[in-house]
Amino acid sequence: MAFPKVRMRERRKDELTRIKHCETSGVSAGDLIMPIFVKEGIAVKREIGSMPGIYQWPLKDVAAEARKARDLGLGGIILFGIPVYKDSLGSSAYNEGGIVQKAIYDIKKKAPGIRVIADVCLCEYTSHGHCGIVKRSPGHKVTRSPDYYIDNDETIKVLAKIALSYAEAGVDFVAPSAMMDGQVKAIKEALIKNGYTKTKIMAYSAKYASSFYGPFRDAAESPPQFGDRKTYQMDYHNSYEAILEARLDIEEGADMIMVKPALGYTDIIYRMKKELDFPLASYSVSGEYSMIKAAALKGYIDERKTVLEVLTGFKRAGADKIITYHAMEVALWLKNNPSTKAQD
Ligand code: PBG
Repeated sequence: MAFPKVRMRERRKDELTRIKHCETSGVSAGDLIMPIFVKEGIAVKREIGSMPGIYQWPLKDVAAEARKARDLGLGGIILFGIPVYKDSLGSSAYNEGGIVQKAIYDIKKKAPGIRVIADVCLCEYTSHGHCGIVKRSPGHKVTRSPDYYIDNDETIKVLAKIALSYAEAGVDFVAPSAMMDGQVKAIKEALIKNGYTKTKIMAYSAKYASSFYGPFRDAAESPPQFGDRKTYQMDYHNSYEAILEARLDIEEGADMIMVKPALGYTDIIYRMKKELDFPLASYSVSGEYSMIKAAALKGYIDERKTVLEVLTGFKRAGADKIITYHAMEVALWLKNNPSTKAQD
């Protein structure tokens, strides 16, 4: 047998050679977006049991967190609110004195310069925990699965109201995540009609019905009280459908599209970037964070190396921005060790 002529290992023989052949720039702090939970009615931060290191923040501490994110050079923060009062219509969500509206206002005043994104959804604000307005199915008497449905067209009106109230508070991006048809269009029209032509839309275009959202629902206190989200979030067997969703969002006026979750969905990230060539975010969700965190805390894996490997995978697939609960930690690692990319 002849010896191989092409010696691929030449490319890996030492660090400088590996740098020379490196195809992807790796992650930088500016690529990363940190989710922040802000909870009404608490005085001190509360750690989320299923997400070690992640907190529900009281309003008074949120601007300081945002400042930290800014000073670390993050690409932004995304806000999620947990109100004291929930009802079946999610009315706390568009209250101008609502927790997210106040947080946006405070951050813009005390931490100027950080990009502020706000999730637009109803699940944290509704007593039933669904992302839309629940109606009884015709002919049924009780609002219990399967005798209910989510009223799409009523919901998008409410989502537009929420988005508008965030725009009024000064948010940079609204991020509709309810997976209702026409939600981007409804929001875009409301923004334009009211003169908020600079407020951008980051659309949760391909949001799959995923078990990886479990810890988030602890954090945001938003699990559905009955049924599941499968009538609005996508079926994970599908990929072409993700392209259709994103294409519609772009037509409706989205400035950025998103794939969520990220781990297990890099084929979708890749395909979307390739076929649509549009600014793309991927959301590395709560369960992804918790899995790595739990394994690292047990000493089964090296957290820093694992996180950098996974995040680089999302970038390699085509993500321009990555929403991750590791954002602050990664930015700190990169700051303290600028050669992290080559070294890992
Ligand atoms: C709101 C929303 C959810 C997440 C982001 N926005 C929860 C859900 O759809 O149940 C999940 C994020 C995460 O798991 O980190 N609809």
